[in-house]
Amino acid sequence: MDLLVDLNLLGTSPAFVEAVRLLNRFASCDATVLLQGETGTGKEVAARAIHHLGSRRDRPFVPVNCGALPDNLLEAELFGHERGAFTDARERRQGMVSQAEGGTLFLDEIEAMSPRAQVVLLRFLQDHSYRPVGGRLTRCENLRVIAASNVDLKELVARDRFRSDLLYRLSVLTVTMPPLRERGGDALLLAESFLSRYAQQYGRGEKRLHPDTAHWLTRYPWPGNIRELENLLLREFLLSERDALEIAPPDPAYAATSGAGPLSGRESDPGFRKAKASAVAAFERSYLENLLNRTRGNLSQAARVSRKDRSTLARLVKKHGIEISRFRF
Ligand SMILES: Nc1ncnc2c1ncn2[C@@H]1O[C@H](COP(=O)(O)OP(=O)(O)OP(=O)(O)O)[C@@H](O)[C@H]1O
Ligand SMILES: [Mg+2]
Repeated sequence: MDLLVDLNLLGTSPAFVEAVRLLNRFASCDATVLLQGETGTGKEVAARAIHHLGSRRDRPFVPVNCGALPDNLLEAELFGHERGAFTDARERRQGMVSQAEGGTLFLDEIEAMSPRAQVVLLRFLQDHSYRPVGGRLTRCENLRVIAASNVDLKELVARDRFRSDLLYRLSVLTVTMPPLRERGGDALLLAESFLSRYAQQYGRGEKRLHPDTAHWLTRYPWPGNIRELENLLLREFLLSERDALEIAPPDPAYAATSGAGPLSGRESDPGFRKAKASAVAAFERSYLENLLNRTRGNLSQAARVSRKDRSTLARLVKKHGIEISRFRF
């Protein structure tokens, strides 16, 4: 389970655990995988995890950002080109496909591909054969393709912006990375892990979250998902002089005093005791879920690891309505 932490796959919410279960299963299949999810939900992290959990882990993982390359360069970037293939092609160059030989080619922002590039990719996905730009010989490469998109490709197909045959090819195995707002206590778990990582990375003392901050963290909708959380914490970690980080939410409507959601105007301050109780409850829940994840739902082992009574743990698990069976994958 610590392998998942090494792979940056931190989280214990049901939606996230289900996504990780699929990543684990698909890692051994070697077929093309499509990763969907909003920006910052961890699609690249997921692609690397599939690569590292699968049999190609000792071969290269080559990411290509399809959105960053103009149409005419994408084909050359992917498949390479012969000398003199176009004006700037002074030398023969190997493409990403050939660099990924034996490993994984990660095609990010696949939605940005032009119609022409989509045809070329479709042809490549059929039998993994291709021709470098300006070349005459067809080459074949043994690799796995993982694609990612942060828009709904079905919708693009409906609007004639993406080829349906390409979507069928890509989406044999699909994993949707859940947005952070649907991951309950994970925001807190991630926040704490980022803070301890920064303390190590920057050689500074550990900092923790002020209870008011812990309170809104799990309620704020995080439109930029994990990346937004990560960047916010890094800034506060570097700038704050205190050990307990008291961070203002990006949207003031989610300030800790606002109760369960944005201020409605009628809600009043729940007061220190309530805010503390809910921060403690959020901590308990995420601690338990993390513990059960690491011990694969084995309560006796969880008790040993956490140095708690088995019966106390069982009571806490019940109090938070946590379903132990979902950790036994
Ligand atoms: N489960 C996780 N645990 C810890 N960190 C994570 C996790 N998932 C993602 N991250 C971190 O969040 C950031 C965003 O992840 P990533 O780049 O994989 O997102 P993405 O879905 O590819 O985003 P985009 O669509 O904007 O390219 C990265 O810095 C990554 O390290
Ligand atoms: Mg990405």
